[in-house]
Amino acid sequence: MTPEALSGLDLLDTAVVLVDAPLTVRYLNPSAENLFELSNRNVAGVAVAKLFGGDGKLTGAIRYARSNNCSYTEHDLTLAPGGRGKLHLACTVTPVETDHDGGFLLEFRRIEQQLRIAREERLLDQTQANRELIRNLAHEIKNPLGGIRGAAQLLDRELERPNLHEYTQVIIKEADRLQALVDRLLTPHRLPQLTLLNVHEVLEHVRSVIGAEYPAGITIHRDYDASLPPLMGDREQLIQAVLNIVRNAAQALQGEGEITLRTRIARQVTLARRRHRHAVCVHVIDNGPGVPEAIRERIFFPLVSGRADGSGLGLTIAQNFIAQHHGTVTFESIPGNTCFTVLLPVNGDDEGGRMKAEG
Ligand SMILES: Nc1ncnc2c1ncn2[C@@H]1O[C@H](COP(=O)(O)OP(=O)(O)O)[C@@H](O)[C@H]1O
Ligand SMILES: [Mg+2]
Repeated sequence: MTPEALSGLDLLDTAVVLVDAPLTVRYLNPSAENLFELSNRNVAGVAVAKLFGGDGKLTGAIRYARSNNCSYTEHDLTLAPGGRGKLHLACTVTPVETDHDGGFLLEFRRIEQQLRIAREERLLDQTQANRELIRNLAHEIKNPLGGIRGAAQLLDRELERPNLHEYTQVIIKEADRLQALVDRLLTPHRLPQLTLLNVHEVLEHVRSVIGAEYPAGITIHRDYDASLPPLMGDREQLIQAVLNIVRNAAQALQGEGEITLRTRIARQVTLARRRHRHAVCVHVIDNGPGVPEAIRERIFFPLVSGRADGSGLGLTIAQNFIAQHHGTVTFESIPGNTCFTVLLPVNGDDEGGRMKAEG
């Protein structure tokens, strides 16, 4: 790196550290000096591992970038620069030419680690509470339902006037419908039937269903990353989960608007307290009015609905199914842009480490 290039780094807002091939620190830009509370004068030539402390992930990231000769981002670093308090950072390592040997440019960004973990834990607890509530409710409904149906059948046989059969048939049919609903609610507790599948298969299925339900006025765009790896999943559950999310988007549009189904790969993500090297990321985006302010905090709870004829179960079921795949559902919403994000880990890829509780 030339002196001009170095002075360019001086102006950057991002914290940048230049490292030599033997993994010693060569230079910190002013933002990095600020972030790490270190001075350039004292750190030149000090080993990266020694200066930044931490658990070896940073040097691991540099070695990875070196052996693959590519940029690499580590999303979850805990460093203790100069032996002081912990910093939670993400770091992108890029191999660069230096005047003697190959070196590395490290860009650091703070991540709101604490916030993220707290949110994850809340989501996980909420999912478990939801499941229990639904299970209990479903059982409470299931038992009397059997009695009602049986009694209607007996009555049906005893009735003399044929036009009265119509009424018993309504009772029996409605009892069956409720039974099917209850069974659906209880299915999250069956174990997922895992097969290797492509998430685009799931999305295409959902697209055709919604396309048939909402023929005019609603356009569904596809923005698929064709290089996504397959994942292990329960096809039916994933279809149901995504369908519930896309159907909500279609309903929010009230007959007119656009939905985008977008897929991307996400790297180094922590889902349900497990770290994964790769996850498949599905965004369902609509340009409708947005999630009503009053129910934003609770839309994943059962029976919470913003629609007069809503059951308030769609997102609860979606969340349960995704949670069974060790994934997460989150959303961001402003009027004109609502995005539901499903993250699903790519199996066989799990780094196995449960996150340590921090702080
Ligand atoms: N894409 C969206 N745009 C606006 N509101 C949404 C969207 N998705 C969900 N919601 C809100 O979340 C509520 C809960 O959704 P859901 O659990 O599927 O229950 P239901 O659809 O039966 O009301 C919806 O009633 C709606 O108010
Ligand atoms: Mg719904």
